[in-house]
Amino acid sequence: MSPTHVSHAVSTPPAARGLLAFMEERGLSGHSFRVCHLTAAVCRRMGVSSRPTEVITTAALLHDVGKLAIPSSILDQPGRLSERDWELVRDHAVIGERTLRLIRGLEATAPLVRHSHERVDGFGYPDGLVGSLIPLGSRIISACDTWDAMTSDRPYRTAMSREAALDALIASAGAQLDVDVVAALVTVLTRESVS
Ligand SMILES: [Fe+2]
Repeated sequence: MSPTHVSHAVSTPPAARGLLAFMEERGLSGHSFRVCHLTAAVCRRMGVSSRPTEVITTAALLHDVGKLAIPSSILDQPGRLSERDWELVRDHAVIGERTLRLIRGLEATAPLVRHSHERVDGFGYPDGLVGSLIPLGSRIISACDTWDAMTSDRPYRTAMSREAALDALIASAGAQLDVDVVAALVTVLTRESVS
């Protein structure tokens, strides 16, 4: 789905457009728009009201903004990352938070981006938050991000089949991902034909 197509479904706040232009140049926008679109559908499914949905979908769109600070040679590396490079990649959540905190109109997205790589079992980063201590928006973004990562080709592996990705998504509920969020996402993916 193209960014233009999705932007009709989810409005892009003016403050986010400049960042998105940079993200597009780095090849980060397609994934971001897909995650955003899916996040909006999960918010709808879970009955999240309109203002929080707006903040959560904007955070979804910008959840990888911190990757702008990471060299392409690391992000696009086909092989296994060294421990040092992997640490740098993990920093993108905090870099994203710090960036968004400074932009008027996007401040509310900052904590959601910071926590979008936490896991409900507490083994995520940067803070190792557990379960419902992770903001709901971050739990939704995390599930949608995971789905899009599994079903897209990456420099280091090809995409999983939809069936295998659905099985993996369901298997991760309660460990990596939130059980209720996964249930809503599976419903969206299987009944609403959103991918
Ligand atoms: Fe992502």
